[in-house]
Amino acid sequence: MTAGRLFSTTVATPAEGTQPVRQPRALPRLFGSLLLVAAAGIAGIGAGPAPVQPAAAPRQLGQIVPAPASVHPGGAPYTLTPLTRIRADHHSPQVRRIGAYLARLLRPSTGYRLPVTHDRGPGGIRLRLSSHERALGDEGYRLESSPGSLTLTARKPAGLFHAVQTLRQLLPAAVEKDTRQPGPWQIAGGTVTDTPRYAYRGAMLDVSRHFFTVDQVKRYIDQLPLYKINRLHLHLSDDQGWRIAVDSWPRLATYGGSTQVGGGRGGYYTKAQYKEILRHAASRYLEVVPEIDMPGHTNAALASYAELNCSGVAPPLYTGTDVGFSSLCVPKPVTYDFLDDVVRELAALTPGRYLHIGGDEAHSTSHADYVAFMDKVQPIVAKYGKTVVGWHQLTGATPAKGALAQYWGLDDTSNAEKAQVARAARNGTGLILSPADRIYLDMKYNKDTPLGLDWAGFVEVRRSYDWDPGTYLPGAPASAVAGVEAPLWSETISTSDHIEFMAFPRVVGVAELGWSPASTHGWEAYRVRLAAQGPRMAALGIDFYRSPQVPWPSG
Ligand code: ACM
Repeated sequence: MTAGRLFSTTVATPAEGTQPVRQPRALPRLFGSLLLVAAAGIAGIGAGPAPVQPAAAPRQLGQIVPAPASVHPGGAPYTLTPLTRIRADHHSPQVRRIGAYLARLLRPSTGYRLPVTHDRGPGGIRLRLSSHERALGDEGYRLESSPGSLTLTARKPAGLFHAVQTLRQLLPAAVEKDTRQPGPWQIAGGTVTDTPRYAYRGAMLDVSRHFFTVDQVKRYIDQLPLYKINRLHLHLSDDQGWRIAVDSWPRLATYGGSTQVGGGRGGYYTKAQYKEILRHAASRYLEVVPEIDMPGHTNAALASYAELNCSGVAPPLYTGTDVGFSSLCVPKPVTYDFLDDVVRELAALTPGRYLHIGGDEAHSTSHADYVAFMDKVQPIVAKYGKTVVGWHQLTGATPAKGALAQYWGLDDTSNAEKAQVARAARNGTGLILSPADRIYLDMKYNKDTPLGLDWAGFVEVRRSYDWDPGTYLPGAPASAVAGVEAPLWSETISTSDHIEFMAFPRVVGVAELGWSPASTHGWEAYRVRLAAQGPRMAALGIDFYRSPQVPWPSG
């Protein structure tokens, strides 16, 4: 990252306006001390000794981020050689694809062929799927490393994919480079057995305030799984732009998507492009959660179709950053014809189980209308086979059975508002936690951060990591917490460099909060493990923020 690259694009500043602006809305397990003094026993698989370079010792098993559930270091390392094979010993095409993904990761930097084979011979990197491994659940895995072989075992393909991410982190950071590097390529001996704390570990990208191309979204999709994030929430509509093609209401995209904050060109995804994003996300075991925000945050739709307005008059397109001024017309029947069409088309495109209906900052909708609106819209989502997710204001209406509420309050959100959310959680509504003054990735790190907003305060790396989702919301049962999600709103964000600078490294801490057992939580150990990710992120070309709170290695 260079300052020149990062800031080469003009950063849009919030427009002046009279509209309301968004208001505020144990002793750590010291993995770092599990020093592995790995013998330099180079046991090439039928390859003879690999050339020994005075390079780094294998990464310690205890350096993995997110911290695994269980780590047992021991024995000599496994060494990749020019003859190493990746043995996907299962008929599942998904396992083959994970093997191919691993090979594509390792080939450029190692320069090895790394063929992906079916054969069950000895040695090599083995990818095993076993239905007997019940304790590994849907996403867990075991990684066993010894001089003779490196075995990854899971019950489901997602677990194998996560195991590959752990494997990556156990190799030197240079493995991430796309040119040949010297090696040696060793993986410390021992066993990692790992399962996630929460099933929902998300990141959100606002593609409405600024539009991001398919390639920009794919780039973020490529980066997130390294830390075992498994949901990508796309905020597809807002006052400033509608970003997904809807055949039955074509002007939503062609007109409503034609601009963005600051007045730029905007854009939208055709259905084919959206499917391409979904395919890419699925190949990285990320489930896409699409959001159409309603009844507020709808100026782009209201501008596209006059009949959606109570007045019958379409407002102009909007390119500022105020919130709370737009509302769908709750009493009009056409509103629900419109939403039925939008939800039907979006649900048909989206294989994931969730459809996010927003529901935040509906300041131009009366409370009675809001409740009536949610009573009508949630059954539409269910009719098309999806589970409702809404921002936590949904708990002020009647959340549908099985709905998830996404909490985006602050430490100083009123007790009444927190209690309303907690009450819903006790009544069965699941929670996704996105406290804005902790994990809104668009908040500035400090007063000098050139991007981002600060209405929820400054959020340095420690603040975003150092809290516990299990006990965060008073009165909400820990069992109601489905997981965590780090939203990135894009009022001031318009390039991949911007995304990376604001997301990394905070999203890494969110990933750890979502994955790692609470017993592993501890800032002092985490900051050391995070520091070790610096060279890896740099090798991947990620423009991360070099927080002074983290002891990044020099050079
Ligand atoms: C939000 O930040 N309005 C969910």
